[in-house]
Amino acid sequence: MTGSIDNLLHETRRFAPSEEFQANAVAQAELYDRASEDRPAFWGEQARELLHWHTPFTKTLNWSNPPFAQWFEDGELNVAYNCLDRHVEAGNGDRIALNWEGEPGDSVTFTYAELTAEVKKAANVLLSLGVGRGDRVAIYLPMIPEAVISMLAVARIGAVHSVVFGGFSAESLRARIDDASARLVITADGGWRKGKVSALKPAVDASLTIGGDENPSTVEHVLVVKRGKNDIDWVEGRDLWWHDQIAAADTEHEAQPFPAETPLFILYTSGTTGKPKGILHTSGGYLTQAAFTHKNVFDLHPETDVYWSTADVGWITGHTYVVYGPLANGATQVIYEGTPDSPHGGRWWEIVQKYGVTILYAAPTAIRTFMKLGRQIPDQFDLSSLRLLGSVGEPINPEAWVWYRDVIGHGTTPIVDTWWQTETGAMMISALPGVTTLKPGSAQVPLPGIHIEVLDEQGTPVGKNSGGLLVVAEPWPAMLRGIWGDPDRYVETYWSTFPGKYFAGDGARLDRDGDVWLLGRVDDVMNVSGHRLSTAEIESSLVSHPRVAEAAVVGANDETTGQAVVAFVIVRAETADDDGEADVTVVDATTLGVTALDATTLDALSAELRAHVATQIGAIARPKQVFIVAELPKTRSGKIMRRLLRDVAEGREIGDTTTLADAQVMTVISGTVG
Ligand code: WT7
Repeated sequence: MTGSIDNLLHETRRFAPSEEFQANAVAQAELYDRASEDRPAFWGEQARELLHWHTPFTKTLNWSNPPFAQWFEDGELNVAYNCLDRHVEAGNGDRIALNWEGEPGDSVTFTYAELTAEVKKAANVLLSLGVGRGDRVAIYLPMIPEAVISMLAVARIGAVHSVVFGGFSAESLRARIDDASARLVITADGGWRKGKVSALKPAVDASLTIGGDENPSTVEHVLVVKRGKNDIDWVEGRDLWWHDQIAAADTEHEAQPFPAETPLFILYTSGTTGKPKGILHTSGGYLTQAAFTHKNVFDLHPETDVYWSTADVGWITGHTYVVYGPLANGATQVIYEGTPDSPHGGRWWEIVQKYGVTILYAAPTAIRTFMKLGRQIPDQFDLSSLRLLGSVGEPINPEAWVWYRDVIGHGTTPIVDTWWQTETGAMMISALPGVTTLKPGSAQVPLPGIHIEVLDEQGTPVGKNSGGLLVVAEPWPAMLRGIWGDPDRYVETYWSTFPGKYFAGDGARLDRDGDVWLLGRVDDVMNVSGHRLSTAEIESSLVSHPRVAEAAVVGANDETTGQAVVAFVIVRAETADDDGEADVTVVDATTLGVTALDATTLDALSAELRAHVATQIGAIARPKQVFIVAELPKTRSGKIMRRLLRDVAEGREIGDTTTLADAQVMTVISGTVG
């Protein structure tokens, strides 16, 4: 998809905001001028205007020790108070905060007063379990109200949450629990997915016993929400029912102020090595940019809008644009437990109709899936309430963009294509809907207060009509404050390519107007359905399987998911020793040829390896295809040439092989695959 950027740049369709939209728009063009006059002062204004500070700050940005930023450092606030109590105190306690829709069709509504009351009780439960300021709490839950309540309760007492997406395996969960030394896990028996209950608690049980008695975890208690009503095992003394604890909890809890740089959460994301990075975010700066972008990019009118982000709280979008941004702004929102196709392909559109959703934020991969299914499905529902659409996670191709606007947005809604990352914490590049003339396929312009550059390899800004590497050239309030427990990796990963500038890992191009077009990752990170996966992590999972000698993973272009995980592996053959026990020996690649294994064995083995990755990392990392090959293409220095593997995986003619140590290898590989 990104290969055809030159075609994309010929895209000539333009969509100016309607007069009506402009007239009522929250964001106005002068935001850009105000921000560029004095960037830290601009963010200071936003922080004062959008948030409640128990102790007002007198300093905006402290950048005396780059790349370790401090924003609003002498100010104090409580994040949960900002998302809850203050709306109740302002007289908006009866406004709906959450319209929760379960997959089977059950639903629950929380007003701001009700959500505040629940979070107060949950905060008291945490305190009664000995969780206090600075302690880490792992949250491993489906998309149920308790996920939001837990996050806010942790924030309220100055503790730190680490939400682990429910699709991750027991092993991935344990790695995250260990890295952050979490004292408590909040989970559920199970949740509804694709028409049935998918169990979660067994993965927690398994994760906490990994390594046996010699390898105890830091977890003292597991709080279990009853949702799936599936049978689960119970560890007396460790496991506690959420509903029992909540029922017994004190209902009063006064939110205490904490310094602006108090850690708020850790969220793990894949990097270029096998070990996920714990991205650390703090309070005041993060909440400022979350609220600012949610309000201005989504043109939020909290009294009338019904906002829905389809993201799971296990990802950064679920943190910033399900929990913190919308609730800080006093928005009314929808959250949905299940998958878009359960029990029928129109489930999302039925929800839009039921709640009168006005703002919808979704991923291009979902849009392309709906596009394939055809417009007859959304056409059965009343989508007239929608007035603004958003896109996030990967580039949205112009065809999908225009379909989204025509079919879902009845040909009139603006679409904001928002570029950002787990690390940036909040949106960085996006149109402002009442201001910008929209260009399908381009994320367009840095938001007010954000300084983006596209650089060549020497670090010189490229001009219009050229491509290069995307950087953020000045600190921003929601920026990550580091990698949990690893300050050197933080400096090395993000700040060493171009000293003093944050390198995002994405390639980008500026068109003739200077608008930004994202070209995808330039490192060994894949983007599958808007989720970040590391080639190295999947490779190391594959080689941990006894039959695998070597593995190389690439992200191949995929029409629906953006990229798909494709693995090439060299297997060891099984032989029987004298003792009759199956044994494993490495087969000489020059003689093996894959014909040494029959087709049924190959199919069975690739299925087994796909399942192995799903068990080890999680279903989202399961390769779409595993090819068993005799050799991998390597340079003379032994580096795997992924470019050539990508050619094979995408069915293209193989590119330049002159730097290969053995040019024959590619004939063998493409013969096998093709
Ligand atoms: C990577 C960040 C931001 C929340 C979801 C993903 C890609 C994200 C866009 C966009 C083109 C995009 C980038 C980025 N990406 N949004 N609008 N256009 N690419 O968060 O897992 O941290 O991944 O997603 O490649 O680096 P993430």
